[in-house]
Amino acid sequence: MEENANYFKVNKETWNKKVGIHAQSAMYNMEDFKSGKTSLMPYELEALGDVKDRSLLHLQCHFGQDTLSWSRRGAKCIGVDLSDEGIKLAKKLNKDLELDAEFVCTNVLDTSKHISKTFDIVFTSYGVIGWLPDLKPWAQMIADRLKVGGTFYIVEFHPILWMFDYVDGESVMKYHYSQKEVIYEEYEGTYANQSSKMVSKEYGWNHGLSDVVNSLIEAGLKIDYLNEYDESPYDVFPNLTKQANGMYRMKDQLFPMIFELKATKI
Ligand SMILES: C[S@@+](CC[C@H](N)C(=O)[O-])C[C@H]1O[C@@H](n2cnc3c(N)ncnc32)[C@H](O)[C@@H]1O
Repeated sequence: MEENANYFKVNKETWNKKVGIHAQSAMYNMEDFKSGKTSLMPYELEALGDVKDRSLLHLQCHFGQDTLSWSRRGAKCIGVDLSDEGIKLAKKLNKDLELDAEFVCTNVLDTSKHISKTFDIVFTSYGVIGWLPDLKPWAQMIADRLKVGGTFYIVEFHPILWMFDYVDGESVMKYHYSQKEVIYEEYEGTYANQSSKMVSKEYGWNHGLSDVVNSLIEAGLKIDYLNEYDESPYDVFPNLTKQANGMYRMKDQLFPMIFELKATKI
């Protein structure tokens, strides 16, 4: 749709600006990453296990840290992202670290226009589906890019978190759990550097868990499990406290912060 094209264009400009800021941020800790520390979190490491020699398509890979972390574990990876600055930096990191990942700049919904091979694993994580207006074409693309018997795994912020507006450091319930109408936000800073002066202009959509599950089932995947957790590996919402296990929690935890879903192409 014409208007979606404009939303994607604005989002791409914002993500392009975020790349340089995120690459310098404490959150993405480039120094440790370059010296070998994985950027992957316990959830995805546990869920996908041994990936050695398995082909892996990473959707919405930002500037490639997670893709390259899977490469370091022996997977044959392709990362895709809308941001050309992100893909440029991902390719540079791949070269500097002498890894063998490939990267493609594309809207994730157009992945199959650029990549025709099928994969053992399709992976995506933390802050991805909210950039997509409709999960049906996304799920269909995932099914098309998986080998029969292949695994799709997503670990993502819980849709309840996106019902709130966090712009002024307060959490105000403002949006529907599953909102088809586009949500526009404009604010200073980014989740990885809140004191940055960059202005984020973003269009997003809220998808409830039934949207995620049903779009994947309709595309022909079998859901292996869906889990919800009262913690987040990232300190990206107001007033979180770090736990002994390294995860972040809200003070009065009344709802989950992340979910994970594993599915198989049948
Ligand atoms: C929050 S980040 C992904 C998180 C990832 N786990 C990380 O921290 O590296 C979201 C990514 O989605 C990408 N993105 C947003 N809309 C997209 C679209 N329509 N197609 C492909 N990538 C998109 C952005 O460029 C960004 O790199």
